[in-house]
Amino acid sequence: MTGGTRGLGFAIAKAFLAEGASVMVSARTAGDFQLLKSEYPDRCLFHPADVADPNSVERLMAATVEALGGLDVVVANAGVSCDGRIEDLEPAAWDAMVTTNLTGTFLCTRAAVPHMRDHGGVIINMSSSMASRIAVGAAGYSATKAAIEMFTRTSAIELGQYGIRVNALSPGILDAGMGGRLAENDRVWAAYRKRFALGRAGRVGEAAQAAVFLASADASYVNGAVLDVNGGLMWA
Ligand SMILES: NC(=O)c1ccc[n+]([C@@H]2O[C@H](COP(=O)([O-])OP(=O)(O)OC[C@H]3O[C@@H](n4cnc5c(N)ncnc54)[C@H](OP(=O)(O)O)[C@@H]3O)[C@@H](O)[C@H]2O)c1
Repeated sequence: MTGGTRGLGFAIAKAFLAEGASVMVSARTAGDFQLLKSEYPDRCLFHPADVADPNSVERLMAATVEALGGLDVVVANAGVSCDGRIEDLEPAAWDAMVTTNLTGTFLCTRAAVPHMRDHGGVIINMSSSMASRIAVGAAGYSATKAAIEMFTRTSAIELGQYGIRVNALSPGILDAGMGGRLAENDRVWAAYRKRFALGRAGRVGEAAQAAVFLASADASYVNGAVLDVNGGLMWA
């Protein structure tokens, strides 16, 4: 579970733990990990890793297999967003989004496959409603998420032969993490809140349940899909 120390990733880790899974939580820093550890002391571990670093990701997958005895599900959730109009966006900010969101997703799949090839598994990549919607200032973030969706579809085709299913989750605006931070800006929020068909932002727990579904046997024939969890989102 990459990026599992706060926001959406924390909620997904918690949902998998509630289902009885053993979970290796990862991020560069431990964040709120102790909250999970105190609730699930026996089935919850933390291993620091930077998803943009190939060696770090390989060490994470190996440490997971060693500690938990195998690797059944990978949730490639770690991501960053740096807003800015193209003419103002620093190349370093662009790089951070590409290397964390897109390269990080690729590196997680690449490092997971050797540990899943013999028995199958599930990979869930993290997209966003922004993958297919246009917003000023979000060119870099949207481009990485659109690329993650195509990477997911291609991965599903390549890895199906090993019994590895690969899908993406596409949340709208949620009440924690990046979405939660949007809600702190009254002016921005006034514009966004009109767009929700259900009249509210999503709860991270609601998106987490969709991740649990994708990992479960109930989704055994779902492969190469992008599952929207956005409550019905209208976008100009
Ligand atoms: N929240 C929403 O409304 C929403 C909506 C749609 C999609 N998403 C997607 O959901 C995912 C999680 O977002 P969030 O809202 O929960 O964001 P967040 O609260 O900022 O959490 C991001 C997580 O990713 C980790 N991370 C960042 N860079 C990393 C790196 N290079 N290597 C390893 N871990 C890294 C962070 O920990 P460290 O900084 O300690 O590494 C943290 O645990 C992202 O992919 C985001 O695009 C979120």
